[in-house]
Amino acid sequence: MLARRFLAGGVRPLSQLAATYKDEPAGPSVVTKVPGPKSQQLKQSLESIQSSGQVKFFADYAKSRGNYLVDVDGNVFLDVYTQISSLPLGYNHPELVDAALNPEHVSAMVSRPSLGSFPTADLVETLNNSLIAVAPKGLGLVQTLMCGACSNENAIKSAMVRHMFDKRGGKPPTAEDLASCMENKEPGTPNLAVLSFDGSFHGRSFGTLTCTRSKPMHKLDFPAFDWPMAKFPRYKYPLNKNVDYNAQQDKQSLQSVREKIDEWAAKSHPVAALIVEPVQAEGGDHHASGDYFRKLQALCKEKNVAFIVDEVQTGGGPSGAWWAHEAWNLPEPPDMVTFAKKMLTGGFYFKPQYKPDQPYRIFNTWMGDPSKLVLLETVVDVVKRDHLLRSVASVGEKLLKGLEALQDRYPALLNSARGIGTFCSISCCDAKTRDAIIEKCLAQGVHLGACGEAAIRFRPFLTFTEKHLAIMFNALETVLKTL
Ligand SMILES: Cc1ncc(COP(=O)(O)O)c(C=O)c1O
Repeated sequence: MLARRFLAGGVRPLSQLAATYKDEPAGPSVVTKVPGPKSQQLKQSLESIQSSGQVKFFADYAKSRGNYLVDVDGNVFLDVYTQISSLPLGYNHPELVDAALNPEHVSAMVSRPSLGSFPTADLVETLNNSLIAVAPKGLGLVQTLMCGACSNENAIKSAMVRHMFDKRGGKPPTAEDLASCMENKEPGTPNLAVLSFDGSFHGRSFGTLTCTRSKPMHKLDFPAFDWPMAKFPRYKYPLNKNVDYNAQQDKQSLQSVREKIDEWAAKSHPVAALIVEPVQAEGGDHHASGDYFRKLQALCKEKNVAFIVDEVQTGGGPSGAWWAHEAWNLPEPPDMVTFAKKMLTGGFYFKPQYKPDQPYRIFNTWMGDPSKLVLLETVVDVVKRDHLLRSVASVGEKLLKGLEALQDRYPALLNSARGIGTFCSISCCDAKTRDAIIEKCLAQGVHLGACGEAAIRFRPFLTFTEKHLAIMFNALETVLKTL
């Protein structure tokens, strides 16, 4: 297979990493106001077809290279937002382009299979070389799906299938179960709940939207399930100066999880699953300790609640490990781990008891996309060959140190630098200042993202190096001086 060919070249030292993109621009270059005239014109045209309010600028993906995103007006940005944290190796990575062009794979792209019913002959091999090759320790089963929300939705459904299987003592559903579910009534449509946390984001599909609790705009006007919300820890930084406060936050959160599970059980609406992000990303990059997550898992086990870890944004390397939850040293794997974004395909890993024993319980037309798995296979090989996780850990340390130094120099503007690997963020004194910093950095050629109420999130590619870091900090410093 194509991806294996690259391993033959041997291991390249970190110092040569940048050579991956021989034609990457030397730095950003901004030649128009952003958005530029072409972007503005295109936005107007798009608005006549669909709502385009959230479009920042139109990109020229053919011209974009490596860590640099080129827009239709010829501006070149150092991209530290990476398509909402979803591209792993930058733009037009040569080996990914090769993989996409390989004639062996073209037919799977142009004749897209319904993967659940008519899989490709090499599906097992491709899965083994991609998702299984980087599976979280102890989780050897995986289901591919479409997007992050769809992955969470189906992990939740798997937890419910299992819950009801246990409740029926493993017996098949009764005629009453089958008839009542057609009317959305009990017992076939059971009152089961999913617990999520304040500030969480798990997607915008109907089931996941009830679990999402980051911003009103996501939820407004949509009906929701009666599912509980627990408090998530809100740490103070620096961590070493706020040990007692943060430990108290963990305790309060765990207490609120216990209370909510008991409360819902008492009203015969048991919690079948709990879903949690390793870092609450969209909600503002809220972290919690390994100790907290170990206790959370133990609590789920005690209460017979499936423990689902949503690694849609943290998975795929930005934490310095394939999976952010690896840092928690759990005594056993989570029940399910969901992914999308940097993994290029949606899906979830699961323990054997969550494998449905009937077909079509977890199903849709496409159930993923083999062409994405082929690309992921190459991503996995490149990440391993180029030691990109090691690079992320080392660049991430410098990124966090740099952010801490910035907040020391601009304490009125910045606080609470935090992160794991290059998955970093910093809070601003208010949303207006945050938005101004992001806008002015874009004018300097550095593309950053926002999260939560007033935070800037840093989501570079796995190929982001110290050279890129220096360019980013230079732009940030230039902007901060003007505020
Ligand atoms: C943690 C998390 N879960 C789920 C999702 C939803 O993923 P998607 O937008 O692919 O549906 C996101 C998207 O940002 C996310 O960050």
